[in-house]
Amino acid sequence: MERTFWYRDSVFYQIWPRSFRDSDGDGVGDLMGVYEKLDYIKSLHVDAIWFSPLYPSPNADYGYDVMDYMDISGEYGGMGAFKKVLDGAHERGIRVIMDLVVNHTSDEHPWFLASRRGEEPYRDYYIWRKGKPDGSPPNNWDSLFEGKAWQFDAERGEYYLHLFAIKQADLNMDNPRVREEVKKIMRFWLDMGVDGFREDVITFISKKEGLPDGSRLMPAARGINHYSNGPHLHEYLMEFRDVLDEYDCVTIGEAPLLTPRRALEFIGGKRPELDLMISFECMEGDCISQEYIHHPFSLVKLKLIWERWQRGLRGKGWNFLYLENHDHPRVISRYGSEKFRVESGKALAAAYLFQQGTPIIYQGQEIGMTSIRLESIDQYEDVQTIHNYHRYFTKEPTEKRMQRVWQSSRDAARTPMQWDAGENAGFTSGKPWFRVNPNYPEVNVADQEEDSGSLLNFYREAVRLRKELPVVHYGSFRLFRPLDKKLLMYERRSKSQRLLVICSWSDSAMRVNVPRGYDLTRGKLILRSHGGEADKNGYTAQPWETRVYLFQDRKKPAEV
Ligand code: NOJ
Repeated sequence: MERTFWYRDSVFYQIWPRSFRDSDGDGVGDLMGVYEKLDYIKSLHVDAIWFSPLYPSPNADYGYDVMDYMDISGEYGGMGAFKKVLDGAHERGIRVIMDLVVNHTSDEHPWFLASRRGEEPYRDYYIWRKGKPDGSPPNNWDSLFEGKAWQFDAERGEYYLHLFAIKQADLNMDNPRVREEVKKIMRFWLDMGVDGFREDVITFISKKEGLPDGSRLMPAARGINHYSNGPHLHEYLMEFRDVLDEYDCVTIGEAPLLTPRRALEFIGGKRPELDLMISFECMEGDCISQEYIHHPFSLVKLKLIWERWQRGLRGKGWNFLYLENHDHPRVISRYGSEKFRVESGKALAAAYLFQQGTPIIYQGQEIGMTSIRLESIDQYEDVQTIHNYHRYFTKEPTEKRMQRVWQSSRDAARTPMQWDAGENAGFTSGKPWFRVNPNYPEVNVADQEEDSGSLLNFYREAVRLRKELPVVHYGSFRLFRPLDKKLLMYERRSKSQRLLVICSWSDSAMRVNVPRGYDLTRGKLILRSHGGEADKNGYTAQPWETRVYLFQDRKKPAEV
């Protein structure tokens, strides 16, 4: 099928279904809740929804442990509700993409149950090994969520591999039957009208032959050098591409440890295996590799990461732009300022929404939801949070360890969506499955709808503008003052337009001067967070003030 690359002109919205909107009062978000909110989603000017997993699941990792790939969980309303949402979205011109989680399944998936009993054809669907002669696990790999990567199964008398939680058994992608299953799953959803997939940890699906011991230099992720970008990865992705090519769909690959150069191995070239890549580098502005190893936020570090990706993919691949998702604490609490919540939320929005690529907004980001901080570890739900707490830095005082949890927990961004100032933030009429952030009386959709200066309306305007301006789609990227710790300033430039994005990254007022060659009195201020004048060379910026100027070259015709 002829591909239209529609995703390049799109803005996505991510829904983590459990916490979006509960329609039936059981305290868990569901698809009829999404259905009720489709007009709200449309009002954000977004073009596509990515759903975190909706499949039946025992929820050891909230849906990332799949029990049936061709059904929708009853908790979310089942297949009937899904089809209603799919049709309702399509009627509004919104596409829908599913999470495809095929590195592993739940240990309650019928394939696993049959495999554990040694039944054909499922016997080799997973990665089973005998232990060492002394009974210890087959190699030294760590799981990323729960202890060692091997779990002994008494029924089968062997260990199975789980790179994530114990209840997430890794599939054996080297088995051609497993790859056929993946293709069947893809066709099932694409034939139903789904518009693509976000492919969960897709770069982990091929493990090195012989499963050798991992390097000791990778504490906590031992073995990762043998399963990240494994030997048959590209071959398998190409096999899947044959199916995907029958549809005009998008594929977004999630890939820990990704650099721009490596990303191009997947999304570059004439017939790319995938379309977009989710890299983790933009989440490292305040940490080393993952949020549990925290350092103070560095704007300089973040700017250089953004610049590297903008330059690295330019003309060769397409960026995927995000600030938040269900795996990271809320960005205002990390990179912005809770004290200047709205202002810093606007700066963050402009900082990424005018870069080149396909941006995605995570539910609640558009109203500036912040991270929840719970008193004790027992109040947390997320398997990774609980594991990290009990495994790392255990000698530190509890207070310090809880601080690490606040800085890193995925639960921080999984609290129910804040719709209004009513009970449970308008998320449910029942008892919410997880705590609502207590700031909902001040931070909610209903209030922001009424306020033209709200963050919500700023997001709407920024998204509208980025779609209207060709320079955002095509223009080059240039970062000014890369080493300035309190200012983000970048230019997008095309033949006839220049866009200057200026975000002050500070709790105090300061003078901002624009680069030589710019005269602010000749530009059109198309987006701003504050009032206030400017002279030719700059202005006095209020804390976290954001301005976006458009310069149109009068001698050249406007691009359309
Ligand atoms: C990445 C997903 O985004 C995350 O939520 C999940 O826990 C892991 N992959 C394992 O599936």
